[in-house]
Amino acid sequence: MNEAALREAIVETGRSLFARGYAVGTAGNISARLGDGFLVTPTNSCLGTLDAARLARLDARFHHVAGDKPSKEVFMHRAFYQARPATGAVVHLHSTMATAIACLAQPRERRPIPPLTPYFVMRIGRDLPVIAYFRPGDPAMEAAIAAEAANASAVLLANHGPVVTGATLGDAVAAAEELEEAAKLALLLRAARPRELTPAQIDDLLKTFG
Ligand code: 13P
Repeated sequence: MNEAALREAIVETGRSLFARGYAVGTAGNISARLGDGFLVTPTNSCLGTLDAARLARLDARFHHVAGDKPSKEVFMHRAFYQARPATGAVVHLHSTMATAIACLAQPRERRPIPPLTPYFVMRIGRDLPVIAYFRPGDPAMEAAIAAEAANASAVLLANHGPVVTGATLGDAVAAAEELEEAAKLALLLRAARPRELTPAQIDDLLKTFG
């Protein structure tokens, strides 16, 4: 995808996420990799009303070179791009159900959401590490995420929300949506004893869908 198309895709993704309630106010941010750098949503912007021309452009070393000031969470995005070179996009949301789990789970927990459905396992993988609480925009978050990112395509920030990656923007958004649904199911079934996928079923999914 060329830069103009990627800019439009970020705007459309933000509009869609906002329209469907995955983002409210100015919460959440999106980034995507270019051949020679990154596009990042501006800080304090509403994902529902992004302007393609004003997205922040960073060079390959994450220096801001054009557009509005980037998200204060650029460190959390950088942690994933550096630890997982195949990452093409990162989506951070405060989506309600995943954030509820992020308020219930203990920091350092690795599986805060049970493996109930195949698409959760296929899109998120085996582990969803819970990162200790950091103030939004705290650069110290980067090292904490980097310590987990090589082995996890997504994390939950304690009392804050999910950060989800993908090879493409579409992949990252689809994974963020699956995570939100899995969190909703986990909360709905919390008092019950739902049947979980077995380790053999999880292995089969990961082997088949990677
Ligand atoms: P930014 O507006 O700086 O992107 O921050 C929003 C957010 O979601 C903080 O976690």
